[in-house]
Amino acid sequence: MTDFLVKRSDLRECRLSESPVPELEPGQALLRVATFGLTSNNVTYGVFGDTMSYWDFFPAEDGWGRIPMWGFAEVERSEAEGVEAGTRLYGYLPPSSHFVVTPVKAAAAGFVDGSPHRAELPSAYHRYLATEADPFYKADTEAIQMLLRPLFFTSFLIDDQLDDDGLATRGPIVISSASSKTAIAAAFMLRQREDVELVGLTSPRNAEFVEGLGIHDRVVPYGAIDSLEREPATFVDIAGDGEVRLAVHSHYGDELLHSMAVGMTHWEELGAGVTELPGPSPAIFFAPTRVVKRSEDWGRSGLETRVAGAWHPFCEWTEGWLETIPGQGFEAVQAAYLDVLEGRVEPKSAHVLSLQ
Ligand SMILES: NC(=O)c1ccc[n+]([C@@H]2O[C@H](COP(=O)([O-])OP(=O)(O)OC[C@H]3O[C@@H](n4cnc5c(N)ncnc54)[C@H](OP(=O)(O)O)[C@@H]3O)[C@@H](O)[C@H]2O)c1
Repeated sequence: MTDFLVKRSDLRECRLSESPVPELEPGQALLRVATFGLTSNNVTYGVFGDTMSYWDFFPAEDGWGRIPMWGFAEVERSEAEGVEAGTRLYGYLPPSSHFVVTPVKAAAAGFVDGSPHRAELPSAYHRYLATEADPFYKADTEAIQMLLRPLFFTSFLIDDQLDDDGLATRGPIVISSASSKTAIAAAFMLRQREDVELVGLTSPRNAEFVEGLGIHDRVVPYGAIDSLEREPATFVDIAGDGEVRLAVHSHYGDELLHSMAVGMTHWEELGAGVTELPGPSPAIFFAPTRVVKRSEDWGRSGLETRVAGAWHPFCEWTEGWLETIPGQGFEAVQAAYLDVLEGRVEPKSAHVLSLQ
């Protein structure tokens, strides 16, 4: 089997590792990773590999890590009851050719990986959904599902929380890294609501793209935050850039109603501008925590049904602008990974990869 490994102390260093396909113990299944998507979200898993335990999902040899991906896998062999060889699954995968799971709660809908090393990690990442029973699944949109489904799920929950907290219509929602897929999906969801005002903050080079999406009221480059009216506003921070955060907090000051820390696309600028911030302290938004809350409120299937209902129109809309870049084999995965890491991928594009 092959693994794409990243050096944990230097995310720019990566290599291929080859080893024999593991033997199965009773209760385990061997999954063959068919394909996965790669965006800044995966880079963030690497940036927070230690602090948020992302390296622990798919352990690797000392000093190296396997960055988690979202994609499709097939059951190649199974010693687990209720899990059939040949089943195609959507879920959280290593950038590898194969990996071993210990299925529990196996049913027509799929299973949960009960591997002991994952027990303490957030449960939202443990489910493997059989495509045949999945309300999100359409065979001809696999690429978009891999790339956008986890991000859309987050964006659905951001929109839901802003509405739940009464913030969606209390002044503009200012979203940083507006060209990122997560920000676009959040803006798409918010746009469906009446009386929402959306401001997209982005790099000058990506401003035209964001404007072209036609879902924001205003698109403002990071350097022109001062040009915004000073009024009650909510900040949805997907860039995680210290200087941008300081500029937004300084501009709105006490008028800032809420500062939601969602992402870190500007992963090398996290510490920039670190100083005491005017306005409210940023509140970390972690999608798996909100999943737990809404699963309690609506039931897990109630949540899934709502997200799936919102997903299909979004998915159709992205077909108008999103271009997927396919790649196969180590060299292609490495090149795509480094392009994403260095911010060299155009916002209208995204990588869909396979290691074998
Ligand atoms: N909290 C949660 O639960 C949660 C869940 C899902 C995702 N997220 C986070 O949301 C963020 C967005 O992920 P995504 O996959 O949607 O991103 P993406 O589509 O890959 O974002 C690409 C955009 O990010 C900015 N960017 C990317 N790399 C950069 C670099 N090296 N230097 C400067 N700018 C860079 C650029 O936007 P601009 O020019 O517009 O800045 C670029 O157009 C990630 O940090 C992810 O972890 C958080």
